[in-house]
Amino acid sequence: MLNISLWGKTFKNPVVAASGTFGFSREYNEIYDVSILGGIVTKGLTLNKREGNEGIRCFETSSGMLNSVGLQNPGIDYFIENELPFMKTLNTIIIANLGGGSIEEYVQGAEKLDKSDVDIIELNISCPNVKEGGVNFGIKSNIAREVVKEVRRVVKKPLVVKLSPDAEDIVDMAVTCVEEGADGVSLVNTFKAMAIDIYKKRPVFKNVFAGLSGPAIKPIALRMVYEVSKAVNVPIMGIGGIKDYKDAIEFIMAGASLVQVGTANFINPFACRDIINGIENFLKEEGINSINEIIGVI
Ligand code: FUM
Repeated sequence: MLNISLWGKTFKNPVVAASGTFGFSREYNEIYDVSILGGIVTKGLTLNKREGNEGIRCFETSSGMLNSVGLQNPGIDYFIENELPFMKTLNTIIIANLGGGSIEEYVQGAEKLDKSDVDIIELNISCPNVKEGGVNFGIKSNIAREVVKEVRRVVKKPLVVKLSPDAEDIVDMAVTCVEEGADGVSLVNTFKAMAIDIYKKRPVFKNVFAGLSGPAIKPIALRMVYEVSKAVNVPIMGIGGIKDYKDAIEFIMAGASLVQVGTANFINPFACRDIINGIENFLKEEGINSINEIIGVI
């Protein structure tokens, strides 16, 4: 009923834990069996270890949150040696989120991940919290084109590009990525945003800007998934403020084959599990035999 086959892989259900909100799964797996998930996306990985940004990294807003983590991660080699073996025991689809500061760095990281046991690579051209790379590759389609083309050259595994809602034209961006060989797109990452400490009279974040996620962005993300789904013929992972099964079903009806749940994990660590159960109950109640029947029905 919930199975979805994409890119030669079978997802048990359409619910995937989003990058940066699930670590490498160890902590969540202590509180529930995360092998029930359709998939898990790793924290953003870069060729070399990164310490991340200084100062405040997370800040709650009305119906959402801002983050400025700065791609803190242990580096791809460490991940492959020390985290991936554990993740592969989880019996779910493992998606490696790949960040980079330059095209060369993306390509070198992609080569390593392509030789590893990850199932899918999610190319992250949408992180707003790093000075070099990240979303700088995800605003203008012609710049995204270069990085996707070069990474595609070295990746045989399924390659999904994670898009920024701050792209100049999200539809053109998605179409460009697909033209350069992306097997899918995931959207959206966080919106470039900010907060001010009025007592200190300065921005909350050292980098001034941070990424906004959570329910506050859901209707905009949903609109973008809907628009992109009409323009590309590759699978879409819908992301943006999904907090319950109703939100997830909206994204699926708008055209997403899979949904990624992010910020909701911080509010309710069982969010992914609850959403899977909620989708299953919804399908039963509505007399729908398979989730595939409602993908893109709008
Ligand atoms: O700051 C961060 O690590 C965020 C990454 C992302 O939004 O992709």
